[in-house]
Amino acid sequence: MSQNEKITIDRLIGLKRGINGSGRRIAAITVYDFPFARLADRAGMDLLLVGDSGGMVTLGYDSTIPVSMTEMLTMSKAVSRGTHRPLLVGDMPFMSFASKQDALTNGGLFLKEGGMDAVKLEGGSEYADIVRALTRAGIPVMGHVGLRPQRAKFWHGYRIEGKDYRSARIVIEDALELESAGAFALVLEMVASEVAKVVTEKVSIPTIGIGSGPCCDGQILVLHDVLGLYDNLKPRFAKKYIDLSPLIISALSKFKDDVLVGKYPEKRHSASMESSELDKLQRVSKAEKDRPVVSEA
Ligand code: KIV
Repeated sequence: MSQNEKITIDRLIGLKRGINGSGRRIAAITVYDFPFARLADRAGMDLLLVGDSGGMVTLGYDSTIPVSMTEMLTMSKAVSRGTHRPLLVGDMPFMSFASKQDALTNGGLFLKEGGMDAVKLEGGSEYADIVRALTRAGIPVMGHVGLRPQRAKFWHGYRIEGKDYRSARIVIEDALELESAGAFALVLEMVASEVAKVVTEKVSIPTIGIGSGPCCDGQILVLHDVLGLYDNLKPRFAKKYIDLSPLIISALSKFKDDVLVGKYPEKRHSASMESSELDKLQRVSKAEKDRPVVSEA
C-alpha cells in the first residue's frame, strides 16, 4: 500500500491479515477538529476516530453521556474537511443507537453529513442486531468491547475488564458476536492483556487496543492525552508524548505581555494608507473637524 493511498475498510483488514506481505500494526488516534485532523493525517495515522471523548476533552463535559449527535456531527464535519488518507470513524453518542431506527438514522447522518467512512458503537452481544442492521444498510461498524465509558458513570467506574474467567468469557463472546454481526474492527478498551490476545487471535477482523496490552492488531489513544492537553482523567494507559500545555501558556503569556507594553503589533503587522490619501484625510479632518470624516471625504 502506498503512503498516500486512502485507507479503506478492506485495506485496514488487510493490515491484520497480511495479504501480499502487507501486514503490520495499525495506528489510530482520536481527533475532533480541522487543524488536528490535518496534522494527524500528515503524521500518517491509519484511522481517525471522532470519539465521544471529544465531549470531555474539547467541550468540557465531565463524562461522555451529555454529548449530542449535533456536537458529534459538527466535530466529524471539521475532521473530514481536514483529511484525505486515514479511515474516518464517527463515534455514536449515548442513546443515539438505542433502537434500530435511531441507529440507522444517526449512523446514516455520520456518513451522509459528517463525512465519516464508518461508525463505532459501544456495546457487546446485546447490540449484535443493531450492528447487523447497520452493516446491512451499508453503514460499516467498528465494535467497542471491554470497558464502556458510556456506562462507567452509572456502574462500576473505569475498571479493567476480563480480570476473572467470567468477565474474560463475556469480552470474548461479545467480540465473536460482533464479528459475526458484521463489524469490520473492534476497539478493546481496558481489557486484560491476556484476554485481548485471545480475542485478537480468535477474530479475523483487526482489534484496536486502548489500555489492553501489546497483542492487539493496533493501538488508539486520546489525542489530548498524547499532547498533554487534558489532565482531568489520567488512565494508566495514557502516554504523554509531548506536554503542550506549558508551551501554550507560555506563548499566550508572551502575547499578553507584548499587548500590555505595546510591543505588539509591530510595523510589519500593520498596513498603512498611501501618503497622498493620508494627506487628503488629514486636510479634510482638520477643515471639517466636527463632521464625520468618512461621509465627508
Ligand atoms: O471516544 C473515544 O475516545 C473512544 C476511545 C476510548 C477509543 O471511544
